[in-house]
Amino acid sequence: MQPVSGIHCRLHCSKRKLMPFFTGNKQSGDEKEIAKNTIAFFELVQKNILVTGGNGQLGSELQRVQLKAEDNLKFFFTDVDTLDITDRNALDTFVKANNIRYIINCAAYTAVDKAEDDIDLCYKINRDAVANIAAVAADNKAKVVHVSTDYVFDGTKTTSYVESDPVSPRSVYGRSKQEGEAELLRLCPQSVVIRTAWLYSIYGNNFVKTMIRLGKEREALSVVADQTGTPTNAADLAAAIVDIIRYAEAKELVPGIYHFSNEGVTTWYDFTLAIHREAGITTCKVSPITTAEYPTKATRPQYSVLDKTKIKTTFGLSIPQWEDSLRKCIEEL
Ligand SMILES: NC(=O)c1ccc[n+]([C@@H]2O[C@H](COP(=O)([O-])OP(=O)(O)OC[C@H]3O[C@@H](n4cnc5c(N)ncnc54)[C@H](OP(=O)(O)O)[C@@H]3O)[C@@H](O)[C@H]2O)c1
Repeated sequence: MQPVSGIHCRLHCSKRKLMPFFTGNKQSGDEKEIAKNTIAFFELVQKNILVTGGNGQLGSELQRVQLKAEDNLKFFFTDVDTLDITDRNALDTFVKANNIRYIINCAAYTAVDKAEDDIDLCYKINRDAVANIAAVAADNKAKVVHVSTDYVFDGTKTTSYVESDPVSPRSVYGRSKQEGEAELLRLCPQSVVIRTAWLYSIYGNNFVKTMIRLGKEREALSVVADQTGTPTNAADLAAAIVDIIRYAEAKELVPGIYHFSNEGVTTWYDFTLAIHREAGITTCKVSPITTAEYPTKATRPQYSVLDKTKIKTTFGLSIPQWEDSLRKCIEEL
């Protein structure tokens, strides 16, 4: 995949299949007119999609989603260097200039511990900039798919969290994301918010890559065993987001909050064992420890398994088991 340098577009539509005369054959006046009208038709039906934070884990995975011939979707991948979401005017100009119909917001401040000291910037990106996206989308009749987090919950439940469970974030990051959700739905109610958890990918820095590196470097490792949740391969979330847009195009975008992670339940400790097993690491002894033995600046939810019934039934999605998705990711590393 090419890194996003400048604004990177990806187009998929069946223009070529229907119009062989575009390939350079000589055209009569009538054919030229038909061609012109057909281009106008495709521009009318083609849906332009802005992806913010396109260089992050999820944004990079969106760049790899295989589109279908009938999709008629054109993606505009941007990141902070090309479109800073804290700049409302820049967002508005971009959306207007490119006739954007959907905004997928993958941009975020994601340094959970750093956020405890970097409060203003965290809120600027995770709440205020989301409000910018919402206002611009509402002004331009675009629809928003926004990504949020399991950290909006306090983690005191012992059964999986449904979308209507009360939020009670325990960290600056969690609060900023929760307020971002609220701003989005207040200013642009026709939006989809997808809360996800424990995201990893072949791109960027994440738990999977860190555990592989440490597993190769060290003979022993201690990992928290009393925090329970479900990992999410960002490739699966990216595919689900494109499926949701396909569904919206075929029927309607059903707005609201949804939960998405892979299927299954684990702890960071058991996740690490699985990572090492899949990566063939046998020389590192992994030991379970408690959260109290590994204090972090930001408080994490002790239990944050997400119930995915709503997203599966609303959009007809099927979600892979976390062990299978982990295997796929490690095979690609
Ligand atoms: N990672 C997780 O474990 C996890 C868990 C639950 C939910 N989520 C949520 O899932 C979403 C995707 O996460 P991710 O892991 O893909 O994040 P990521 O890898 O940190 O990517 C975020 C991207 O946003 C960019 N960005 C930051 N400020 C921006 C701005 N002002 N304007 C435009 N772009 C900006 C970042 O650029 P720089 O790198 O240059 O700052 C980065 O490329 C986020 O909403 C996150 O909160 C993540």
